[in-house]
Amino acid sequence: MNTDQSVSSFLPKSWYNVIPELDFEIPKPLHPVEDRPATVEEFNWLWSSEALRIEFLQGEYASNPWIDIPQPILEAYSQYRPTQLYRAHALEKYTGTKAEIYLKREDQNPAGSHKLNTALPQAFYAKNDEGVSTLVTDTGAGQWGSALSMASSRFDLATKIFMTRKSYDDKPYRRYMMRMTGAEVYPSPSTLTQIGRDLLKEDPNQPGSLGIGMSEAIELVRSSPDHRLALGCMSYYAVLHQTVIGIETKMQLEALSRRPTHLVGCVGGGSNFAGFIGPFVKEKVTGSKMKFVACEPDNIATLSSGDYRYDWADYGKFTPRISMYTLGHDFQPPKIHSGGLRYHGKTPVLSALVKNKIVETQTVSQPRVFEAGQILLKTEGILPAPESAHAIRVALDIASNANAGDVIVVCLSGNGYLDLKGYADELSLE
Ligand SMILES: Cc1ncc(COP(=O)(O)O)c(C=O)c1O
Repeated sequence: MNTDQSVSSFLPKSWYNVIPELDFEIPKPLHPVEDRPATVEEFNWLWSSEALRIEFLQGEYASNPWIDIPQPILEAYSQYRPTQLYRAHALEKYTGTKAEIYLKREDQNPAGSHKLNTALPQAFYAKNDEGVSTLVTDTGAGQWGSALSMASSRFDLATKIFMTRKSYDDKPYRRYMMRMTGAEVYPSPSTLTQIGRDLLKEDPNQPGSLGIGMSEAIELVRSSPDHRLALGCMSYYAVLHQTVIGIETKMQLEALSRRPTHLVGCVGGGSNFAGFIGPFVKEKVTGSKMKFVACEPDNIATLSSGDYRYDWADYGKFTPRISMYTLGHDFQPPKIHSGGLRYHGKTPVLSALVKNKIVETQTVSQPRVFEAGQILLKTEGILPAPESAHAIRVALDIASNANAGDVIVVCLSGNGYLDLKGYADELSLE
């Protein structure tokens, strides 16, 4: 355990469970095909028991807004948390803004992004379940896969990862990181599963998507009693664990006597952003003028132009149907370099916050995203992941029209050192 009191005083000891605090209901998950609610018993082969309790809001998760973080997770968190809340003076100067801009530095986490915040508890809880040996998942750019593999090796579990084929080919270094920490990594769609084989038969160059990878992971878990599914973005458990980001941000801003006017983040499945804003939601609902801005690619604009309805979280329709903004479970995302945003849906709690007009959305074109990443590198010496650069782009746009006294806080969800091929392609670097 980190014994430095000045550091650990900002380390959250609990996660924030926002759902019991909302004055509207999040519609319950439905059975994958039958017209009735899904039940816990139908999915206990799929998730670890604690993940299932969180997903179905059972026990303390039904009503308790504060959930104690177990000691082994606190010990793991204390190796890299609290993350820095960084004032981006040079970026402010570059834009000529009247606002203050802060970056919440999840990019400095050991695995490269916020994903470790949920990978650690997911691995810890799975290890506590009798007979579980392996966690299985899908990953886009590989940030989630690297984090899960790292967390699994800490808690002595095996990991199997379906990595979308586009990223598997473009981002070999994340694949090497996963392999170094012990994971088996398959390009998705793969020949390992029926759904993968069917898709490859239709199109041998199928680039994959997070929804397809998730179906392959579920198919493998279904035939392997000692395997369980881990999810880095869509689940409510991922959102819950990511609230360490928002809790710390709140404490750090309070220590600086600042109140945020804008909280800005990128959304793939929605976990980093929902975890970032979660602890501020109550304030907003009770009248604060603070703005929550969710940023997404203009060609995967789920929150901005998708439908709000029940849909499956995966391509193959294996998951419960959940209520969310969606482009359709069979949507084929374009081959953008932000692999972590190539997903058709958004987690139900974030979708409901958008539906209830608590969160607003912005879309960004890819050239403007990469330009923003380059600006951050030139001004602050920070290379954001392409996913996170969506939020930087929008923050720059907000900053250019901001008022004196505005405080713009960006969740910098990950670093882009292993995404340089994407930067090179988009910025035409030799
Ligand atoms: C760096 C980074 N940011 C954001 C995301 C999007 O995921 P989420 O919306 O669940 O935070 C990903 C997903 O892989 C990612 O790797």
